Amino acid sequence: MRAALTRAAGGVLLAGAAAAQDLPPGDPEAGRRIAGQCRTCHGIDGYAQIPIAPHIGGEPAGYLADQLLAFREGRREHEMMSVVAANLSDQQIADVAAWYAAHEAVATLAADPADAPQPCVACHRADGIGVTEDVPNLAAESNIYIETQLKAFRSGKRVHEVMSPIAADLSDAEIREFADWYNDIALDIQPME
Ligand code: HEC
Ligand code: HEC
Repeated sequence: MRAALTRAAGGVLLAGAAAAQDLPPGDPEAGRRIAGQCRTCHGIDGYAQIPIAPHIGGEPAGYLADQLLAFREGRREHEMMSVVAANLSDQQIADVAAWYAAHEAVATLAADPADAPQPCVACHRADGIGVTEDVPNLAAESNIYIETQLKAFRSGKRVHEVMSPIAADLSDAEIREFADWYNDIALDIQPME
């Protein structure tokens, strides 16, 4: 009995974390139907309906799938999203990520880009659109959401090789200032033609 339990626990540890590239190809049309479960909080097009939920329309499919896998496997935790993700299969994660990724996020910056948070612009740009496929958009994310994530990286509740050390050095005042910058950007999300 004890040997069996030890083997089971060891198996879980050895299995390692699933990643987006291990998933089957996603079908955006099938994903649109799954997005019916997401729309109260994220909208059908990925424009968030509540301040604690992020805009996810136009984010790269790989980033979205990785976050859903992290919620499902407990590497990222949230009382709502952990429950939602627990019920999604690999195929459903690939499909719903493909649906939200099949949108275009267009940010409009009213402020002077020279005032943008300098430690962030190399990856998140002044207008909050990520420079590469693994960098999420921050444009128009609520300051509540951005603050929550930066504090989660700082405390170790959410872990990422790039963001954890960056957040570790931020004061509460910097977190508030940077969150307000990205909060104030206008965002439009449209399905791609
Ligand atoms: C009841 C509200 C609710 C529902 C329904 C919901 N979400 Fe979420 N979602 C949230 C909240 C709140 C967060 C932020 C979690 C946090 O603070 O870490 C989030 C975060 C996410 C993230 C992380 C995005 C990022 O920028 O890191 C993804 C991806 C996501 N949700 C996808 C989905 C999908 C796909 C569905 C439907 C299958 C869904 N959510 C349903 C509330 C919801
Ligand atoms: C070297 C590139 C890089 C720099 C510089 C950087 N980030 Fe990030 N950021 C990332 C990556 C990559 C992720 C995705 C982390 C993950 O996959 O969990 C991320 C994620 C985030 C998230 C979570 C977004 C979401 O949708 O959940 C926030 C908030 C964030 N960064 C804010 C900042 C702020 C504020 C700064 C400046 C102090 C900054 N970042 C600097 C690369 C960077």
